[in-house]
Amino acid sequence: MTRTLICLALSTALVLPALAQETADSVAPEGAARTDFSGGSAAVEAALAAKEANKPVEADKWMVAAANPLAVEAGADILRAGGSAADAMVAVQTVLGLVEPQSSGIGGGAFLVWYDAASETLTTLDGRETAPLAATPRLFQDENGEPLKFFDAVVGGRSVGTPGTPALLAEAHRRWGRTPWPTLFDAAIDHAEDGFAVSPRLADLIASDAERLGRFPATAAYFLPDGAPLQVGQILRNPDYAATLRAIASDGIDAFYTGPIAADIAATVANAPGNPGMLSQLDLAIYEVRERAPVCTTYRAHDICGMGPPSSGALTVGQILGMLAPYDIGKLGPQSAESWRLIGDASRLAFADRGRYMADSDFVPVPARGLLDPGYLKQRAELLGGDDALPETAPGTPEFDHALLLADDESIELPSTSHISIVDQYGNVLSMTTTIENGFGSRLMVRGFLLNNELTDFSFRSHSDGVPIANRIEPGKRPRSSMAPTIVMKDGKPVLAIGSPGGSRIIGYVASGIIGWLDWGLNIQEALSLPHAINRFGTYDLEAGTDATKLQEPLAAMGYEINLRDLTSGLHAIEITADGLLGAADPRREGIAMGE
Ligand code: GLY
Repeated sequence: MTRTLICLALSTALVLPALAQETADSVAPEGAARTDFSGGSAAVEAALAAKEANKPVEADKWMVAAANPLAVEAGADILRAGGSAADAMVAVQTVLGLVEPQSSGIGGGAFLVWYDAASETLTTLDGRETAPLAATPRLFQDENGEPLKFFDAVVGGRSVGTPGTPALLAEAHRRWGRTPWPTLFDAAIDHAEDGFAVSPRLADLIASDAERLGRFPATAAYFLPDGAPLQVGQILRNPDYAATLRAIASDGIDAFYTGPIAADIAATVANAPGNPGMLSQLDLAIYEVRERAPVCTTYRAHDICGMGPPSSGALTVGQILGMLAPYDIGKLGPQSAESWRLIGDASRLAFADRGRYMADSDFVPVPARGLLDPGYLKQRAELLGGDDALPETAPGTPEFDHALLLADDESIELPSTSHISIVDQYGNVLSMTTTIENGFGSRLMVRGFLLNNELTDFSFRSHSDGVPIANRIEPGKRPRSSMAPTIVMKDGKPVLAIGSPGGSRIIGYVASGIIGWLDWGLNIQEALSLPHAINRFGTYDLEAGTDATKLQEPLAAMGYEINLRDLTSGLHAIEITADGLLGAADPRREGIAMGE
């Protein structure tokens, strides 16, 4: 299996059918104005062609990579006009909230990593949702203290945390913006008012979630007009979303966090039929973005930097890479089952620590330094010294400056989410992962946007055998995340922005993207296209329909249980080289990279 073969296997298995389906199925219903969800400009066509050919998009000055061509074009327009990466991000996010509403939006939360070229510093901003002040540790338990079924908790008001994304957009713009705030909403407002063509992915997801979407009148009216799921190419308008954005554009985010929009959010949550929640106008009014210290790990002479708690992203990616450091997986290569034994078991060991120790550090002491301590990682790496799958993986005992007994976490995390990577002409670099948690979040829609179900990223149990779980629900606390927006640094300069959606598999997607690029010398598009093999808790997930399935026999012989399945990452990355920028978008989704 050569590198070319790996990548071709994926591109033929996933990309070509997706495009073919788009062409074959894009029959717009009567009255539709446009059948091409991508907008169809020459730049978009070139970006899609590069992705299909498994080649990065090249640029000199700026680049943007995200999950939908209309969102990428909105960001590109801002960058071309001299805007900063932070400005472009606001445009990208507000368009994503319209055209990819199942994944992220102003009703959700996000983490942002920023490299500032002028000051040569890295900053991370936490725009994660908070638990309502009225929440209790038993929010997701029945009257007997047993965890609710996942979707009984998700669908409705109970799972809705205080959205952080609008505040994050404003804070990024306040710190690093160069374009007037109202301008940044123009693209999303125009698309919402003029209408956009429903993409194949959005149509598929609506069809498969129709029963849940249909439970709430506002959501049903939007996604299931006349009772039927929206079709590919159908033109969808969202005047309510346009009006919400106009209010935020003209009055700032106070228009979201206070006043009639906040009142509508709280009322929608409180009155959700069958499953009301407790998010209040006070929760919204007191929401704050938090600046956190970046978390960095050294790997192959690079610094892998990202988001610390309440995200487990950078700590877990850092632990995996730190444990792999003593092993020459570069020489073993991506076809070697031995490479994947090392990666898989490093990941299992890191996930064991994650389940025990990682949560919102404003509420629970997290041994962040101990978890990435080189001596501790060396000790954990020694566990990988055998030939077979580890029979079991338990959390380690990192150095901890608090005496604290914690039990293992029991969170259920399913994939949705979206990732944005941007480099501007000033040399600033942005890596932001953004989410409303489950696909379509809580399914509650208000004023044209969906509300998140982020609270189900908490552990449903608060204690195990009387010992508290770090990621238990507490009022005002932020649920642990797996989002891993990352900037890779070399000699103090940024060389790569990368991140992905995918629930707790985000961690494996990002780690293997970095390994593909750094250890196996793949170009950044090839690294994103690499077939996935992901192990978090013991079972090895191999990406169905790709060359990853060739690992099935050797990994099973090592003792792993194997599961073949779709692994729909949504990696978006930009490499910064001495010769320019190289952008890449995941062939498994509809995004592109675009630059000039
Ligand atoms: N809800 C996805 C995450 O935060 O990891």
